[in-house]
Amino acid sequence: DPMARTKFPPPDFVVVANRLPVDLEKLPDGGRRWKRSPGGLVTALEPMLRAREGAWVGWPGVPDVEVEPLVEDGLQLHPVNLTAQEVEDYYEGFSNGTLWPLYHDVVAPPAFHRHWWQAYVTVNERFAEYTAKVAAKGATVWIQDYQLQLMPGMLRELRPDLKIGFFLHIPMPPVELFMQLPWRTRIVEGLLGADVIGFHTAGGVRNFRWLATRLAGAGTVRNKTNEVTVGRRTITLGAFPISIDSKHLDELSRTDAVQKRAAQIREDLGNPSKVILGVDRLDYTKGIDVRLRAFHELLEENRVQVEDTVMIQLATPSRERVEHYQKMRDEIELAVGRMNGEYANIGHPAVHYLHQSLPREELAAFFVAADVMLVTPLRDGMNLVAKEYVACRHDLGGVLVLSEFAGAAVELTSALLVNPHDTDGVKETLYQALTMEPQEGRKRMRTLRKQVMSHDVDRWARSFLSALGLDT
Ligand code: ADP
Ligand code: F6P
Repeated sequence: DPMARTKFPPPDFVVVANRLPVDLEKLPDGGRRWKRSPGGLVTALEPMLRAREGAWVGWPGVPDVEVEPLVEDGLQLHPVNLTAQEVEDYYEGFSNGTLWPLYHDVVAPPAFHRHWWQAYVTVNERFAEYTAKVAAKGATVWIQDYQLQLMPGMLRELRPDLKIGFFLHIPMPPVELFMQLPWRTRIVEGLLGADVIGFHTAGGVRNFRWLATRLAGAGTVRNKTNEVTVGRRTITLGAFPISIDSKHLDELSRTDAVQKRAAQIREDLGNPSKVILGVDRLDYTKGIDVRLRAFHELLEENRVQVEDTVMIQLATPSRERVEHYQKMRDEIELAVGRMNGEYANIGHPAVHYLHQSLPREELAAFFVAADVMLVTPLRDGMNLVAKEYVACRHDLGGVLVLSEFAGAAVELTSALLVNPHDTDGVKETLYQALTMEPQEGRKRMRTLRKQVMSHDVDRWARSFLSALGLDT
């Protein structure tokens, strides 16, 4: 019993996610330390939860470690252990080899393995049982993302007294694609255990509503497109576009330290007239290859020169034991090597590529330093990087090039929108961004900032939680 081992008061508000907001790291000397976890989910939820003094249930990021619950800055962290085999089958396998590619328009082929599914069921049960023991009577439990889609139903069985919310951080795919999944009905039924199911976009709501009625026999109510019924229960469906801690990032970007560091970065690059930036988890959905190709062709056509236009790609290592990720990393590194081999001069590489995770302040400095931000995913639930760039540009400088296939494109309509499958289109738009009149750039950035600064992550959380009936 996790609570018997701790002296914490049972929490009224619990977030459950595959990962804790911090990852345990095993050091070479046998020691351990916590570091921030990768990805947009943590970026979004951490500030919200710290403000509410709730609890977070999740995996500590390494297999086979028993970690006691702990309190960090008023936030209770409850680690759920996974074995090495479960990490392989539930996390790398079913979550990231089946669901991730299936939900991202099958941009890589999903694999369907029954032993992966079995592990997914087992781990979802473990999370449900653990959470059932942690949460206070009548508590609100907010379950996050595709790794835990069975958990709402499982938790409701164990604890009918709880209020249960679920938010999907990745796209809810077109029904034709979802229907490939051998376990499609179980997933939909699992989700329907929640009281509120949230997606980033209205399209996600529509896809899920269709699936709920066809696969799980859910009822619909006329004129209420945001509700379905299962037995006596009514489940609310909603579009809640996630966001960032806009104010905090805006303030960070204005600090002396960040402004100086941004100037230093430009100087280190040899004071080029244009800096192009990409910032992503190294994932095949992000379209890093697309933007490299576009820049490569501009160099080839001699429309840009490495002495005055440089590209920087920052890529956080991600899911490195999954095959598609290994293959993609090789392809990207080959492409970067080729471009530098063909176009660099001594002291002037065409592309600066860092396969590293950087601190927030350093990232903010890169955003401040960049004239053009390239966000070109083939499919993305939201894409917080696009919003982070905008939050860092109080100077109204910089041009955002954004894929139509990112959830963020619904809100950030003043960006230069591109179809990432159209190489000529991306190339011409990149050129347009590089040559844009400052006045037009400022006008666009002003509109983007209005949206990002007024729709922050706190507003996202409050709108979801008020749909759950919480007094926010
Ligand atoms: P995803 O959730 O798929 O990773 P998002 O764009 O929504 O994509 O979120 C990515 C998060 O990871 C952002 O907060 C971004 O700043 C952060 N990030 C991306 N690349 C790096 C990097 N190289 N170093 C540190 N943080 C990074
Ligand atoms: O929603 C995107 C997401 O998959 C989160 O669920 C996850 O925490 C993040 O990206 C990073 O991925 P991972 O946890 O697999 O390293």
